[in-house]
Amino acid sequence: MSWYRTEGSPQKYDEHFDQWLPRTQRQAEHPWPYKIIMAKKTKGYVLDAGCGFGCLARFIKNGLFLDFSSVALKKRWVGGSRPRARSNVEQLPFRNEVFDSILAVEVMEHLDDPKRFIAEVYRVLKKGGFFTFASPWNDPSETHKWKEISNAVIDDWLKPFFPKYTFAVPPERKERFMIYAYK
Ligand SMILES: C[S@@+](CC[C@H](N)C(=O)[O-])C[C@H]1O[C@@H](n2cnc3c(N)ncnc32)[C@H](O)[C@@H]1O
Repeated sequence: MSWYRTEGSPQKYDEHFDQWLPRTQRQAEHPWPYKIIMAKKTKGYVLDAGCGFGCLARFIKNGLFLDFSSVALKKRWVGGSRPRARSNVEQLPFRNEVFDSILAVEVMEHLDDPKRFIAEVYRVLKKGGFFTFASPWNDPSETHKWKEISNAVIDDWLKPFFPKYTFAVPPERKERFMIYAYK
């Protein structure tokens, strides 16, 4: 598969999580407050798309956790017995209209094609379902395909499927933004 060979390949994330840097460990124990707020806003059956090592699992009662890094999902998993699966979020392995809420925290900037992911989110979200995502505005990290995200980019990604959305900046992390939208 083409996505498997790109800069943001699962191997890159496996290597990244394998190092288990002190800041990664801190995120596992104390996720940034805005991430917790986002997780707590979800309702019903939740998909945490690009869940990493599951630092938000304890804030989501009824969820499925998806990532393409097997190191995150196995060796470094901190989400207890929560159901999880390995998959590319750009091709969600679910039938239509399954989830009440979908969460993608700091995932969009890693994707080859965020619009494709959003189309998939729309497809697997129930009518009236809730979609929330967060990303940094500018971050040139190696694994980021999208090193700069403007308001125009957000509009371009979202508007075909979610014409209305709410936008916020976490008070404690102004270099990031959060989006809330309903199907
Ligand atoms: C910055 S981490 C965020 C993890 C978690 N959401 C959090 O906030 O702690 C980005 C995650 O997205 C995953 N990821 C990136 N591209 C992906 C893709 N196409 N399919 C599935 N997971 C992906 C990576 O493996 C990594 O775990």
